[in-house]
Amino acid sequence: MTESITVTDNRTGESVEIPIMNGAVSSTAWAKLLPGIWFHDPAFMNTAECESSITYIDGDAGILRYRGYPIEELASKSTYLEVAYLLLYGELPTEAQFSQFKHEITHHTFIHENVRKRFLEGFHYDAHPMGMLVSAIAALSTFYPDAKDIFDEDRGHEQIIRLIAKVPTIAAAAHRFSVGMPFVYPDNDLSFPENFLSMMWKTAEPRFAANPKLARAIDVLFILHADHEQNCSTTTMRVIGSSHADPYVACAGAAAALYGPRHGGANEAVVRMLSSIGSMDNVPEFIRGVKAGNGRLQGFGHRVYKNYDPRAKIVRQIAYEVFEVTGKNPLLDIALKLEEVALSDEYFISRKLYPNVDFYSGLIYQAMGFPLTMFPVLFAIPRTSGWLAHWLEMLSMNTKIARPRQVYTGSPERSYLPIEQRKPE
Ligand code: CMC
Repeated sequence: MTESITVTDNRTGESVEIPIMNGAVSSTAWAKLLPGIWFHDPAFMNTAECESSITYIDGDAGILRYRGYPIEELASKSTYLEVAYLLLYGELPTEAQFSQFKHEITHHTFIHENVRKRFLEGFHYDAHPMGMLVSAIAALSTFYPDAKDIFDEDRGHEQIIRLIAKVPTIAAAAHRFSVGMPFVYPDNDLSFPENFLSMMWKTAEPRFAANPKLARAIDVLFILHADHEQNCSTTTMRVIGSSHADPYVACAGAAAALYGPRHGGANEAVVRMLSSIGSMDNVPEFIRGVKAGNGRLQGFGHRVYKNYDPRAKIVRQIAYEVFEVTGKNPLLDIALKLEEVALSDEYFISRKLYPNVDFYSGLIYQAMGFPLTMFPVLFAIPRTSGWLAHWLEMLSMNTKIARPRQVYTGSPERSYLPIEQRKPE
C-alpha cells in the first residue's frame, strides 16, 4: 500500500492525495491544489530542502553515518582525507585513488604569496582568525577566476582540491599573524594533520614532529566534524551554490554561517562558560540560572539529536587520550559535573537536551594549546569537505535557485508623505 496524505481545501471542497516518499511529502503536489498558499516554516524546522545521499542522521536514536558508514567505525579506522574522499565521491577510495587524492591535496597546500603578505597581513593585529579565514577564502575566488566554470568537471575538481588543501594553511597563517609569529610554509612530507600542526606550532626546529597521539586526535576530530547534513552552514553553501556562484565565495558564506555561537562558535562558548563557572561547587547555581532563562548551557541541545550526540561520545573518549599527553584540562571536572547534573535534571530530560559535539571538543583544543578564537576555525577546516560534497551533489541534480517565499505582515499600500508633513509617532 502506498503511504499518502490527503489534503482538502475546505473553501472549495477539492482534495489532493500526496504520496509520502522517503518520509517526506512533495510541496509540488501541494502547490497544485493550493497555488499561492505557502508553508510558513521559519528556520526550516519542518522542511527537507533537498534529497541527499551523503549523510544520514537518526536524531532520536543518536545515529550518524557518512555514505552509510557509521561514524564510530570511520572515527576508529579511517583518516580525515579518506573520509573527505568518501563524502565527495560516494565510495571509499581504492589504494590508487587515495594515493592520487593525497598527492593532489598535498601539492595544493601552498597559498599565493599575495594572499598571505598583502591580504592576511593587512588585517588589524587583533583580528579574529575566523573573520580572516572567511575573507581569505572569498579572496581565493579572485586568484582562480576559472572557478566560475562550475560545470567543467576537471576545473571543479581542481577547486575542491585547492579548498581542502589551502584552508588549513590559511587557518594556521591567521593564527601565526595574530600571535606575531612568522608564517610556516606547508611541509609536503607530512600527513594532513601533521602538516597542519606544523604550520601552527613550528618554531626554530628544522622539522616539527607532532606528537602522534595529538595528530591522530586532530584527525579524528576532523572526521567527526566533516559533515552533518543540512546544518546552517551547509544549507548556506547550497543556497549560495544554487545561484551558480563559484565554490570559493560559496564556502566563504558557509564559513560565515559557521562563525556564529549557535553553530561552529559553540565550542568557544563552552570553554568561556566553564571558565566563568570556575568550580564544581558553582555548577548547581549555574544550572538554576540556565533554567531560569539566564543564558543557555552551551554545548547542550541540538535541532536534530534528541539523544546523546554520537560524536560527543567519541570526543569525550579522545579527551582522555589527549589529556594523557597534555595533562588534564582543569575545566574537565566542571564539564563532567555539569553533564551529570544536567542529565539528571527534569528541565534537560523533558527537552531531550544532551551534550553535543562541542561540549568536550573545546577542552581538547584548549589542552592542545589552541587559543579560543581558533576553535571555530578548527571546525571549518574539515567541514570544507562536507560543504563541497553538498555543493557537488547539488550541481549534479541541476537544482533551481533557492528562493523561498515569505508571509508579508507589513503595512498595506500607503502614500509617500513629504518629510515636513510627518508627525512623530
Ligand atoms: N540550554 C538550555 N536550554 C536549552 C538549550 C540549552 N543549551 N538548548 C535548548 N534549550 C531549551 C530552549 O530554551 C527551549 O525551551 P522551551 O521549550 O522551554 O522554550 C527548548 O530547549 C528547545 O530549544 P530550541 O531553541 O527551540 O531548540 P533549537 O533546535 O532551535 O536549538 C540549538 C538548537 C543547538 C541552537 C540549541 O540547543 C542551543 O542554543 N544550544 C546551545 C548552543 C550549542 O551548543 N550549539 C552547538 C550545536 S551542535 C554543533 C553544530 O551542529 O553546529
